[in-house]
Amino acid sequence: MSHSNVRHGILRYGWWTRTNHWIVAICFVLLTLSGLAFFYPAFFGLTALFGGPEQTRIVHPYIGVFMSVLFAIQAVRFFGDNLFRRHDVQWTRQIRDVLTNRDERLPAVGKNNAGQKLVYWIFLATVPILLVTGIVLWRPWIANDMPVWALRWAVTIHAYAAFIAIITLVIHIYSAIWVKGSVRAMTQGRVSHAWAKHHHPLWYEDVMRNRKTDAESARPNSETQQERP
Ligand code: HEM
Repeated sequence: MSHSNVRHGILRYGWWTRTNHWIVAICFVLLTLSGLAFFYPAFFGLTALFGGPEQTRIVHPYIGVFMSVLFAIQAVRFFGDNLFRRHDVQWTRQIRDVLTNRDERLPAVGKNNAGQKLVYWIFLATVPILLVTGIVLWRPWIANDMPVWALRWAVTIHAYAAFIAIITLVIHIYSAIWVKGSVRAMTQGRVSHAWAKHHHPLWYEDVMRNRKTDAESARPNSETQQERP
């Protein structure tokens, strides 16, 4: 995919969507590093990245709240593109073809495929769970007033939800690198016509149809012109 094909290509993610996504991504990585530092003694050394153990404990929940707010904005904006449709069922049934790169056999999909949609829904489930359980565990503001049973539940659920979210992120990053051109879509915003047609044909058709309608409505209407004196 040449650079000029992309520059003159189709807008997949606008400026704010990309900025929002990358801030969420950076926060998530920082939360993973600081969270792992508390979770397992072997990772304790990671606290050095945040200026020591005490600073790590203080900063972790603030990053969590900040990321949750930005994630909520992102989730609302991405919602419509991640609703499951009939073709997603067929795509999921053909997961072997997906994993063996037999793209030509796959059904046409919209802006996101079923795998991307699943990632979206897993994040949508885990981020609020992490936020709520994290708030329960927040010292010195909340945790000191919580009963021990609530702290035990919160710490267990927080750890499991984090585990699921981290595994999902690893899969998300792997698939973004695997499907060539995806990372550029999230860094530069645009994709080539060939990329869009190949990976997301229904979305491509939609974009092209809208462009045609826009062009037609921008064209001067001959009947209206005739009516003019
Ligand atoms: C360093 C970490 C990350 C990398 C490298 C990354 C990369 C990407 C890329 C390249 C895309 C565009 C895929 C396409 O249009 O085909 C994307 C989309 C997306 N990302 Fe990320 N991302 C990261 C972290 C995150 C995190 C932490 C979240 C949410 C908590 C997230 C949620 C999403 C969602 C919902 C989409 C749109 C649908 C999709 O393609 O799955 N990403 N990401």
